[in-house]
Amino acid sequence: MNTKSPASSPSPARQSSRRSFLKAASALPVAAYLGSGLRARPAFSANFQSPNEQPVVGFIGTGIRYHTYHCRQALKFGPCGGIADCDSVQLGRAQQAAVDIHRERDWPLVMGLYEDYRGLLDRSDIDVIVIGSVDHWHTKMVIDALKAGKDVYCEKPLTLTIREGQQIEQALQQTGRVMQVGTQQRTEFDQRFVQAAAMLRDGRVGDVQRLTVCIGGSRESGPLPKVDPPKWLNWELWQGQTPWHDYRQASEIVDQKGWGAGFPFSRAHRYYRWFYEYSGGKLTDWGAHHVDIAMWALDKLRRDIGPITIEPIEVVHPVEFKDGYPTQDDRFNCATKFKVKCTFADGIEMFVRDNAQDDLGFENGIMFEGTKGRFLVNRGKIVGRPVEELPDHPLPTGAYAALYEEPTTPDLGGFGSEGYHMKNFMECIKTRKTPASDVASHNRMLNVCHAINVAMRLGRTLTFYPENDTFGNDQQANAFIEREQRKGYEITV
Ligand SMILES: NC(=O)c1ccc[n+]([C@@H]2O[C@H](COP(=O)([O-])OP(=O)(O)OC[C@H]3O[C@@H](n4cnc5c(N)ncnc54)[C@H](O)[C@@H]3O)[C@@H](O)[C@H]2O)c1
Repeated sequence: MNTKSPASSPSPARQSSRRSFLKAASALPVAAYLGSGLRARPAFSANFQSPNEQPVVGFIGTGIRYHTYHCRQALKFGPCGGIADCDSVQLGRAQQAAVDIHRERDWPLVMGLYEDYRGLLDRSDIDVIVIGSVDHWHTKMVIDALKAGKDVYCEKPLTLTIREGQQIEQALQQTGRVMQVGTQQRTEFDQRFVQAAAMLRDGRVGDVQRLTVCIGGSRESGPLPKVDPPKWLNWELWQGQTPWHDYRQASEIVDQKGWGAGFPFSRAHRYYRWFYEYSGGKLTDWGAHHVDIAMWALDKLRRDIGPITIEPIEVVHPVEFKDGYPTQDDRFNCATKFKVKCTFADGIEMFVRDNAQDDLGFENGIMFEGTKGRFLVNRGKIVGRPVEELPDHPLPTGAYAALYEEPTTPDLGGFGSEGYHMKNFMECIKTRKTPASDVASHNRMLNVCHAINVAMRLGRTLTFYPENDTFGNDQQANAFIEREQRKGYEITV
């Protein structure tokens, strides 16, 4: 739980620092030229009561997620003070998107642009940092932002390793800031996943026996030739803590539509998530969403749950692995097909699979099965007999609120569509309550995803102990709990 300094109304220093941002920004020539000054009270839909309570927002990492969510949702609550990205083309596009929104709000059009995110953190007028950078940078950026006195919204997966999660929790405890992890299935999608979790906890499938979590497989690339990195990308900075690799990129753009459109397969933008060096493939990309809902529903994120046995039944990697490491560095390397059985100490089985079309008839989502029936939930639907029975047998009052760390947060009434997760974060900045996706419960779940990846990489059954985040006496598996970090990019609290 986040415990707070009394920041529900800003301290004089914070008020004056906001004022200086607004003053500095509105004084700049571009704003004057475009005729925009800040209105005394900009019209937007948030509940903030006075202009001084609008948080000034800074963004780090401006790829897909920035454009599909962060920029639009965060700027409903306050102006953008600055943006950081180590790719100057991405930075320019991000600036344009934020400027468009500022123009609609009649806010000043000037914002600070940074290659090195630490410049953004030095800005005392910025209250909130939203992080949408690549996975291997999350932990360092989060810790630096917390230590700079910012409240933080950071994308899933929060960490690259189990050790990083411990470091973030330590920094959070030291600083008492508010932090939300970007697992929006806990609040959005018309609360379909919230309903699923509440139903499971209310015994709607009877005694739970088996969960099947389908998340798709990681992509395959074929060989990617070595080429010079784009001139506008600081490849050294992008790699950060990870081992130095030559930049590699395909000669053509494969995806003409969808989230990767416009970018060739490479070791960087969009496609980094398919390299274990930078991420954890589908387990940390979509596992961070669906394993989260599965373990949340089972109430296995906040109490002692005993050891978990992790058995990789089928695993296909696109390259050969030796001692848990890929033997080639010229193509994507995360598991493309997998079926892993996790058995909890109470006997419940959770299968994590790329696909269950052939036997269970679905490709993406979570199926909950018990002695009295089963149901399926994904981003588009929630179906099954226990769902059909709801009109005659509604869930008890308070069933949704009881799922969260602080039952009074969030206020779910009337929400559930896109943007609620950011709204919940912004409300918690005011109330200093714990947001819906708190760090501790996210880490508990993500450590299981990391542990599944270790089992798949080593190709053998492991026992993971959430009570101390280790694989017991298994030294080979324990070696994956943390990674060596490149000089200059070490993570310390
Ligand atoms: N919650 C969701 O549903 C959801 C959806 C998509 C992505 N995400 C998450 O958002 C994050 C970003 O994903 P994406 O798909 O937008 O990736 P992306 O590759 O499109 O964008 C990442 C950006 O971070 C920048 N970056 C890398 N290192 C940096 C550094 N040192 N300083 C500043 N900027 C740096 C890159 O240059 C790039 O512009 C990932 O962690 C991903 O898992 C979450």
